[in-house]
Amino acid sequence: MLKNKKIILGITGSIAACKAAYLIRALVRKGAEVQVVITPAGKEFITPLTLSTLSRNPVISDFFSNRDGSWHSHVELGLWADAMLIAPATATTIGKMAHGIADNMLVTTYLSCKAPVFIAPAMDLDMFAHPATQQNLSTLRSFGNYIIEPAEGELASRLEGKGRMEEPDRIVEQLENFFTYQNSLQKKKILITAGPTYERIDPVRFIGNYSSGKMGFALAEACARRGAEVTLISGPVSLSAKHPNIRRIDVESAGEMYQAAIEVFPGVHAAILCAAVADYRPEAVMPEKIKRENKEDMTLDLTANKDIAASLGAIRRKGQVLAGFALETTDELINAGSKLRKKNLDFIVLNSLREPGAGFRIDTNKISILDNKGEVTDYPLKSKQEAASDVVDKLITLLK
Ligand code: PMT
Repeated sequence: MLKNKKIILGITGSIAACKAAYLIRALVRKGAEVQVVITPAGKEFITPLTLSTLSRNPVISDFFSNRDGSWHSHVELGLWADAMLIAPATATTIGKMAHGIADNMLVTTYLSCKAPVFIAPAMDLDMFAHPATQQNLSTLRSFGNYIIEPAEGELASRLEGKGRMEEPDRIVEQLENFFTYQNSLQKKKILITAGPTYERIDPVRFIGNYSSGKMGFALAEACARRGAEVTLISGPVSLSAKHPNIRRIDVESAGEMYQAAIEVFPGVHAAILCAAVADYRPEAVMPEKIKRENKEDMTLDLTANKDIAASLGAIRRKGQVLAGFALETTDELINAGSKLRKKNLDFIVLNSLREPGAGFRIDTNKISILDNKGEVTDYPLKSKQEAASDVVDKLITLLK
């Protein structure tokens, strides 16, 4: 899948820069054309001679060539590429990319790049865990960039932890997967639900939940990137959908989400229901703010909302694929399996709040996929983007 693919390999100042040599060799062996762009600090760790020999292309580092004064066009380079990979990516470069600080050829090229961007961080465990780095990575994810999570192990500092750049073979595998599935959903229409629902109590209060929409938006992006036309029905979240193939419908309550889903569903090939939908709403919405008035107790009467997944499960056509999510806290597999059957789904994605790094708001998830043939596949802790790719790969096997 990498044959004739044009890859910009950005190299920054980390000891992991020595792995870039293996990375280039693996990419070139697979038939890719590699153009290296290296930061000044990167050159301290690996020589341009090594990199140009392996990539069979002159290495670019400066804005212009010292020999003849000609400019290296970051814009042309950005447009030339089928993918840009920054490996290793230091905390500094990640910070510059997140904030558009274009003071070197690598970051200017990144800002001009229209192709998908993959970032493989490499740094000390405390630098990686620092909120500044995590926030910058979150920003890059929100730009639609792929973060190739670093591995755990011994670091250059001799400390043990998460921060080692992922191994070259694994990075190449991720690029291959990307190109394999790139257009696999062309001409397919997919419905995704995401985020929480708010059930009004009075003009200032509601019943809601902690869903941020991150998982659902990652699914929408993953489908759109594979060529699908996506309708994303979202509850109240502060995210924006980047891909032009995503049509977004904003709703507030479970009732509004149900209406939108019922209208869209007949026209799609598949739906993934990731929203955290309130099962109950207040029976009556108070027209004015409820006053405390010295009352110690207060009772709210609730009534059940419609189950969107079960309703779609009841009207689905032959060939339409329907997937849901199950957020569990106990008896995870039993509960998820029972939801899968009750709602007539093809598969259900289980995430448990008992798993560290899984569930609401955070950027990672740990999922298991249960399908209606009784098969269960467990996945390791991954970024929500990577978890979304796994879910969409499963969907693709069923759409075939
Ligand atoms: O948004 P994030 O912060 O990234 O968090 C992601 C997530 C934890 C919300 C997500 O991964 C997730 O688990 N979503 C489903 C949460 C949930 O409501 O699960 P459930 O077990 O209550 O519902 C089972 C399925 O039925 C889900 O597909 C749900 O969308 C659907 N459902 C539930 C109730 C209802 N009235 N209508 C529905 O369609």
